[in-house]
Formats: sequence, C-alpha cells, structure tokens
Amino acid sequence: MPATVVVGTQWGDEGKGKLTDLLAGEMDVVVRYQGGHNAGHRIVVAGEAFALQLVPSGVLYEHITPVIGNGVVIDPKVLLGEIDTLSAKGVDCSRLLVSGNAHLIMPYHQELDRLTERFLGKNALGTTKRGIGPAYADKAARVGLRVQDLLDPKIFREKLDMVLYEKNLVLSKVYNRLPMKAEEIAEAYLGVYAERIAPMISDTVTYLHDVLGVGKRILLEGAQATFLDLDHGTYPFVTSSNPVAGGAATGSGLGPRDLSRIVGIAKAYITRVGAGPFPTELEGETGDLLVERGHEFGTNTGRRRRVGWFDAVMARQAVRLNSLSEIAITKLDVLDTLEEIQVCVAYEAAGVRYAVPPYHQSTLHEVTPIYETLPGWGRDLSGYTRFEEMPVEARDYIAFLREQIGVPISVVGLGPEREQFVRP
Ligand code: GDP
Ligand code: IMO
Ligand code: MG
Repeated sequence: MPATVVVGTQWGDEGKGKLTDLLAGEMDVVVRYQGGHNAGHRIVVAGEAFALQLVPSGVLYEHITPVIGNGVVIDPKVLLGEIDTLSAKGVDCSRLLVSGNAHLIMPYHQELDRLTERFLGKNALGTTKRGIGPAYADKAARVGLRVQDLLDPKIFREKLDMVLYEKNLVLSKVYNRLPMKAEEIAEAYLGVYAERIAPMISDTVTYLHDVLGVGKRILLEGAQATFLDLDHGTYPFVTSSNPVAGGAATGSGLGPRDLSRIVGIAKAYITRVGAGPFPTELEGETGDLLVERGHEFGTNTGRRRRVGWFDAVMARQAVRLNSLSEIAITKLDVLDTLEEIQVCVAYEAAGVRYAVPPYHQSTLHEVTPIYETLPGWGRDLSGYTRFEEMPVEARDYIAFLREQIGVPISVVGLGPEREQFVRP
C-alpha cells in the first residue's frame, strides 16, 4: 500500500496539523519527515486544542503509530516536554518511534541562531530562533550529533568535545559570549534525555518498509512549506530543510515510488511569518480583518502573521514541485464577511507576464500581481457539512481556485474543529 504525503504549498501554517489529523482516521502510521520545533501544528478536537511541534499529528488516535523520521532535527528537551504535556491531557505517546539517524539540536545551535539573527540586523530572516538552521548546517558539515549517539556515551562525548571546541571559539571570539561547558551539556543529554528517549529510538526505515509491505497505510506529515523550502523557496528567507514532497522520501527512507498520493494544502488566502518577498501582501483594513478573523498569530511563537490574497502563481509552482495529486483549501470561513475577494492569477514585471514565479529573486521583488475579483458570499460558512449546500459565491470561489491551480480540490476547511470541512 503506497504512502500519502501532506505538504504545505504556501509559507506554512496552512493547516497541515488539522488535515493530517483528519486523514489519520484512515491511516496506520504518521511520520514527520523534516523540520523541528519551528513547526506549530494546531488541532482542535471537541473544543480542546493541541499545539504540536515535534510529535506527529496522528498521535491523537490510538490506532496510529507516530514516527519521527531521520530528516527531523530534535531538541530532546522540547520533545520530552511535548510528550509530558500531551500525556497530561490523556494522550498516549508510548507508541512514538524516533529515528536514530535524526539529528539533535544542541544548546549552541539555539544560541547561534539567536546571535546570527542579531548580527544580520535589518537583514534578519525572522527565524523561530529554535536552532533549526545551525543544526542542519552541522548535519551538512558532518559535525552533527545524532539521536543514536545518545545510546553511546563515549562517542557522544568525543563528538561533543570536538564540535564544542570550535563553537566556543565562535561564541567567545566572534560574539563575545561565554563559552559553553561540555560537562553540563553531556550531563543533560546523556542523563535524563538519553534515559527517556532510548526506548523510542528505532530503525524507522526498516519499520516503515515492513509496515508498507504488509499493506499498512502511511501518512507523511510535512512541516513548513514549499516556499520555505531550502532549494525551492524564497531563499534566503527559507527554512533549512526540504518540506517539498521529495523531502518526504529522503526524510523518512521510503523510496520515491512509495509515495503515490500527494496532498497539497493551501489557505483560501495566504500568510507568511518572518521576512521575505510577498507579492500579494495586504496591508490596511482588509489585512487586519484577515489577521483577526483567521487568528493569524504563530501557534508557538505568537508572532503576527503577514497576510495576503490567494496567489495562484505560487500554487501552480507548488503543483509542479510536489507532483500534487490534489489540494485541500483551508480557512474559507475566514473570508465570510468580505464583499469582494481578489485572487492573483499572474504576475507582471517589465512588461513580462508570469504564470509561475520568475526564477530570479530580484524580479520576484519587483512583480505586480494581476488580480481577478470575485464576489463574497456574506454568510457564515462554519456550520456547513455539504459543499452543494454552500452559497453559490463560495462554491464559485472554490471552482475558480481549482481552475487556476489545475488539480482537484478534495477538502475545504470551514473552521478549526476536526469536523469542520466539506468535500467538493
Ligand atoms: P500548520 O502549521 O500548517 O499545521 O497550521 P497551524 O496550526 O500553524 O495554523 C493553522 C490555524 O488555522 C490553526 O489555528 C488551526 O486550528 C486553524 N485552522 C485550520 N483549518 C481551519 C479552517 O478551515 N478554518 C479556520 N477558521 N481555522 C482553521
Ligand atoms: P509550520 O510547520 C510558518 C519560518 C520562520 C522564518 C523561516 C526560517 O507550522 O507551518 P527557521 O526557524 O525555520 O530557521 O525560520 O521559516 N518558519 C515558519 N513559518 N510556519 C512554520 O512551520 C515555520 N517554520 C519556520 O518564520 O521566516
Ligand atoms: Mg504552524
């Protein structure tokens, strides 16, 4: 039985947590394949909200085995804190498996993320300051510590001593900070973190291929999104991993042909947190309205999200980059009170019209969006359970997006609760 991927098609926070939770009802395993606790995936079930960062969103179901794949970077303290919070709410996390090849976020990663952002000043990326970029940089530089190193104190300590020597030079000589102590780091990581995480550490590649072989259904839950992708996003205003569907293979160990259904997810408008180009960005009253109605503040960081009109240029690119087989549109209800809604159907720059984003970032910064205006529906959509019964303007809006994007729309979200959606 081939696997399904859920991938964000914008700049994150499209509702991947909610969609994963929704689809997990018919899955057996849910895998996170990249990112770390920069993610914030919010799920609401019967009025109770869960904000997940590292634990896969399928965890709320007892029949699901949640897996943290090799492509994820893990801050053990955050992982354990999240497990404790979920357990206190009655969610059983005992089935969680963690790849031994996943990399560890270390205290110096977090410190360096903060310091480099400060150093960049007005050019700062607006990262989540969670140490994500520095941890992936060390992975690429082959000086990272991995989850499996927690099982071998001698190796862990050798690697830590080697890497910390260089980190401390940077911290003290470049940033004028106090050096960090290997002893203190080792005590925490090899102590309580190792003790509690050891039972979860597994060969997740073998596990995933074994379960796939006996016909179980696997869902791969992306974090971040297509335009935050290190290769395909608006570099350098991106994260340091590959959220695109191809990353689901490298980040889990499944082969590309194991991934058959790729579900993209987009808001009925668009948001972005942090710096970087944003062609359809809205300021003023309409922007404030979307922020307010959509509660557009970071799930974990609390930062106000920038908002804009739906951008079909980016959506078309996301279809290509991810081989999307379908797309879920979320938060249509947020547009309920608007008289008119705009959709960006193309960009224009220096007399050239673009149906997909221009490859040169300088051009992207200069484009003017070309909009089509659609009528609003002026009614509360949150209670609808059947697409056919929704106001014609809302159905036409979805039909217009479908035509612009070019792939079927399989789900439309009408509220944060698990049941608040319709199928066109
Ligand atoms: P993720 O990072 O992609 O999982 O998305 P977040 O959880 O960070 O942000 C999405 C927010 O929208 C969360 O607060 C969800 O509860 C909420 N949400 C998801 N789908 C819908 C929807 O269809 N309508 C409304 N109003 N809220 C939604
Ligand atoms: P989910 O999974 C929205 C953004 C940050 C910043 C850039 C780099 O909830 O959709 P990083 O800390 O990753 O080095 O920051 O990426 N970013 C997100 N924006 N949703 C996310 O995750 C994000 N994860 C990172 O705001 O602009
Ligand atoms: Mg989020």
